[in-house]
Amino acid sequence: MSVVSAAPFLRPPCLRSPGPQGRRHTLPASEFRSLSPEDAISVFEIEREAFISVSGECPLHLDEVRHFLTLCPELSLGWFEEGRLVAFIIGSLWDRERLTLDALTLHKPHGTTVHVHVLAVHRTFRQQGKGSILMWRYLQYLRCLPCVRRAVLMCEEFLVPFYQKSGFKAQGPSEITVGPLTFIEMFYPVRGHAFMRRNSGC
Ligand SMILES: CC(C)(COP(=O)(O)OP(=O)(O)OC[C@H]1O[C@@H](n2cnc3c(N)ncnc32)[C@H](O)[C@@H]1OP(=O)(O)O)[C@@H](O)C(=O)NCCC(=O)NCCS
Repeated sequence: MSVVSAAPFLRPPCLRSPGPQGRRHTLPASEFRSLSPEDAISVFEIEREAFISVSGECPLHLDEVRHFLTLCPELSLGWFEEGRLVAFIIGSLWDRERLTLDALTLHKPHGTTVHVHVLAVHRTFRQQGKGSILMWRYLQYLRCLPCVRRAVLMCEEFLVPFYQKSGFKAQGPSEITVGPLTFIEMFYPVRGHAFMRRNSGC
């Protein structure tokens, strides 16, 4: 692992513990914010462990992470603990009912569907409710975006119950396969506020 790629997980000595004079200059314990291209390496480090080490594949390669975080950062959400990325979602807009191969690389600015490319939680923070909480916050946020009508994702079959708990419904097998991997497509009906829709020009 290169020094650069490990950097987000190495905490400089000044952040390790507050001195006797109190918590000056400390980063927020917990923060949610949209990601930027500068976060791409931290994102990819989590993806590398979560996906590449398991199957050799990952939803978004580093250049694709940068691509979406440049085009539509507002459709991403990161969870930071003391400045360190611990979980994230990356989405883009899509303009068709079902996902096709193009959806893996394209952002359709006039689409009304958010394609959730990836949700991942850093290994040491899994099974603590973070994935579910982050998805819940993300879906709440999408409800405030007047042009968004639904969210879609594709996942391996074993994760269908996880996404069902967040309110997603299975739509059937996806036409997309990656090597030997097959996926179920799922959707979530996003309901924007009526008054925002009326005034949005969508
Ligand atoms: C899947 C993932 C996002 C879940 O986040 P999390 O914070 O660990 O999940 P939560 O603590 O909110 O919820 C736990 C529930 O997730 C489900 N779940 C998590 N990992 C699972 C797995 N490998 N297989 C089956 N179910 C799993 C279970 O329903 C579990 O409930 P249980 O504890 O009652 O069994 C996380 O494990 C992860 O990042 N995995 C690797 C990357 C990945 O597969 N991402 C999804 C595809 S884009």
